Amino acid sequence: MNQYIEQSNIAVDAKNVSHAYNRATQARNIVTDLNLHIEKGETVAVVGRSGSGKSTLLNIIGGLEPLQQGEVHVLGKSLNGLTDSQRTALRRDHIGFIYQAFNLIPTLSVADNITLPLALKGVNTAQRQQTLEPLLEAVGLDGRGDDYPDVLSGGEQQRVAIARALIHKPALVLADEPTGNLDAQSGRQILSLLENLVSEHNSSLILVTHSLEVAGIADRTMIMTNGSLEPAQVSHLNGTLAW
Ligand SMILES: Nc1ncnc2c1ncn2[C@@H]1O[C@H](COP(=O)(O)OP(=O)(O)OP(=O)(O)O)[C@@H](O)[C@H]1O
Ligand SMILES: [Mg+2]
Repeated sequence: MNQYIEQSNIAVDAKNVSHAYNRATQARNIVTDLNLHIEKGETVAVVGRSGSGKSTLLNIIGGLEPLQQGEVHVLGKSLNGLTDSQRTALRRDHIGFIYQAFNLIPTLSVADNITLPLALKGVNTAQRQQTLEPLLEAVGLDGRGDDYPDVLSGGEQQRVAIARALIHKPALVLADEPTGNLDAQSGRQILSLLENLVSEHNSSLILVTHSLEVAGIADRTMIMTNGSLEPAQVSHLNGTLAW
């Protein structure tokens, strides 16, 4: 898989993707004939109304939802026909996922939550600790490594989730409203951390957001409408996104 990933200049190539959730009597189409092409090193913001399918899209690209229809290549690897465990391996090794609901593990300390991707890769304790320290400082959680998620504020949990997504320097970062719970200053710090990681490692970033300021750091912005993505001009989105 590594060979594929190094050779590919395309981070995400999604063609004619459709996705439905089953309800009692009928399926509900959430994603409809969606296309998306993201180059290595590119940052793309995705905006759209609540419920328009932004998280669903990230879940498909990140391999959390099995692909129902269409073709998706992520870092040169086709998602079509991958088993659950192959999708998990792709996500674990090469993707940093900042979940909208954080998804921290309550029984692990802050330090162990953040370093989990390294532990899963077999990195030893001393190296994990060494990598952890500067990142804890960068997300403003210096000295909080021994705390457990249940004593953290929403914004602190969000910063742990962000550190965990970045610690293994992934080639693709999927960030679902990564600054939604942060005050303006913390939000800006986190955004520059994301920007720095992406430019240092030529990683790609998909940034789902309701904020024009956040969308402003992207190379381009797409808007999710009727289950599909269209290019959007941030300057035309009228001051603030009203959703
Ligand atoms: N696992 C699921 N089962 C059934 N329906 C789902 C599931 N996940 C999402 N949905 C539905 O799909 C639609 C799109 O949800 P999604 O979470 O992708 O929206 P979103 O654009 O991320 O919204 P928000 O901005 O509020 O986070 C919603 O109507 C939601 O109820
Ligand atoms: Mg969402």
